[in-house]
Amino acid sequence: MRKRTAGFVIAFTMVLASSAFAAEARFRLLAPSEDAFLSGKEVLLIARVEGFHEAKMVEIFDNGKTIGFAPLKKGVLSYRFELPAGRHELILAAPDIKRQSLKVFMGKQEGYRYHIERDTDSCKTCHPDVARNIYKLSSIQSDLCTQCHDAVNTGEFIHGPVAAGSCTPCHDPHGSRNDYFLVANGKDLCLNCHSQNLSKEHIDNRRNAYCIKCHDPHSSAKNYHLH
Ligand code: HEC
Ligand code: HEC
Ligand code: HEC
Ligand code: HEC
Ligand code: HEC
Repeated sequence: MRKRTAGFVIAFTMVLASSAFAAEARFRLLAPSEDAFLSGKEVLLIARVEGFHEAKMVEIFDNGKTIGFAPLKKGVLSYRFELPAGRHELILAAPDIKRQSLKVFMGKQEGYRYHIERDTDSCKTCHPDVARNIYKLSSIQSDLCTQCHDAVNTGEFIHGPVAAGSCTPCHDPHGSRNDYFLVANGKDLCLNCHSQNLSKEHIDNRRNAYCIKCHDPHSSAKNYHLH
C-alpha cells in the first residue's frame, strides 16, 4: 500500500513537472530592436511566435492604451502603424502567449535603420511565398543578397560562415541599430564564435584593435583572412 502511494505520488509529480516544463509560447521580435530610435512616424513591427498557441490576433498597447489589433498569420506578425513623436512602451498581448514589451522612441534621431522598405510588398524579394504567409527564403542567403549587393565570397580564402552561404550570423536582414546592419559591434561580433581576446598573443600584440582592422570578415586573398 505504501509503495503504491509512493508510485502514484511520483507519477503525479512527473505530470506536474512536465506541464511546468512545457515551454510557454513567446514572441521573438525581428524588427525593430528594443530601445530603437526611429525616424519618421512609421513603425514596421515584425515578430514570430515560438511555441504552441492558437491566437489569431495580437492586441497592441502603447503606453497602456490599446492602439490596434494585428493579425497573427501562421504565427507571424507583420504590422505597420504610425506613432507620434516621443517615447513609447509597446506591449504585444495575445492568449496563450507571453506578453512582450518593446520600447521605441520616435523622433528625428535615427538609431535604428530598416534594411527593407517598411511595407509588406518588400518582403517578396526574399520571401517569395509571403502572400501565403510562408517566410522561407527564395534561395541560400548569399544568393539572396547578390540580387542587390556585390558578392562577398570572391577572395581565395573564404571565411567559414560566408563559405556556408550565410550572412545572418553577422547581419540582421530586416534592420539594426549598428552600422552595416550588424548584429553586434566591433569585436563582440567576432567573439560570438571566436575567443581571440582570450588568446595572450592576440591581446598583447593587438591590444585595443578591432578585429576587422586586420581580418576581412568575408574573404581575402591571404590566409587567416588578413587584408
Ligand atoms: C533582404 C532580404 C529580406 C527581406 C526583404 C525580408 N526578409 Fe525576412 N528574413 C530574411 C532572412 C535572411 C531571414 C532568415 C534569418 C535567419 O535565419 O537568421 C528572414 C527571416 C524572417 C522571418 C522568420 C522566419 C522563420 O521561420 O524563422 C520572418 C517572420 C520574416 N523574415 C519576416 C519578414 C517580413 C514580414 C518582411 C517584409 C516586411 C521580410 N521578412 C523581409 C531576409 C529578408
Ligand atoms: C532588394 C535589394 C536588397 C537585397 C535583396 C539585400 N539588400 Fe542589403 N541593402 C539594400 C539597400 C537599398 C541598402 C542601403 C540601405 C541603407 O543604407 O539604408 C542595403 C544596405 C546593406 C548593407 C549596408 C551597406 C553599407 O554600405 O552601409 C548591408 C551590410 C547589407 N545591405 C546586407 C545585406 C544582406 C546580408 C543581404 C541578404 C540577406 C541583403 N543586404 C539583401 C538592398 C538590398
Ligand atoms: C563574420 C561576420 C560577417 C558575415 C558572416 C558576413 N558579413 Fe558582411 N560585413 C561584416 C562586417 C564586420 C562588415 C563591415 C565591414 C567594414 O567595416 O569594412 C560587413 C559589411 C558588409 C557589406 C557592406 C560593405 C561591403 O563590404 O560591401 C555588405 C554588402 C555585406 N557585408 C554583405 C554580406 C553578405 C551578402 C554576407 C553573406 C554572404 C555577409 N556580408 C556575411 C561581417 C560579416
Ligand atoms: C557565426 C560564427 C562566426 C563568426 C561570427 C565569426 N567567425 Fe570567424 N570563423 C568561423 C568559422 C566556422 C571559421 C572556419 C573554421 C575555422 O577555421 O576555425 C572561421 C574562421 C576564421 C578565421 C581563420 C581561422 C584559421 O585558422 O584559418 C579568422 C581569422 C576569423 N574566422 C576571423 C573572424 C573575425 C575577424 C570575425 C568578426 C568579424 C569572425 N571571424 C566572426 C565562424 C565565425
Ligand atoms: C593587428 C592585427 C590583428 C588584429 C587586430 C586581430 N588579429 Fe587575428 N590574427 C592576426 C594575424 C597576423 C593572424 C595570423 C596568425 C597569428 O599570427 O596568430 C591572426 C589569426 C587569427 C585567427 C586564426 C589563428 C588563431 O590565432 O587562432 C583567428 C580566428 C583570429 N585571428 C581572430 C581574431 C579576432 C576575433 C580578433 C578580434 C578580437 C582578431 N583576430 C584581431 C592579426 C590580427
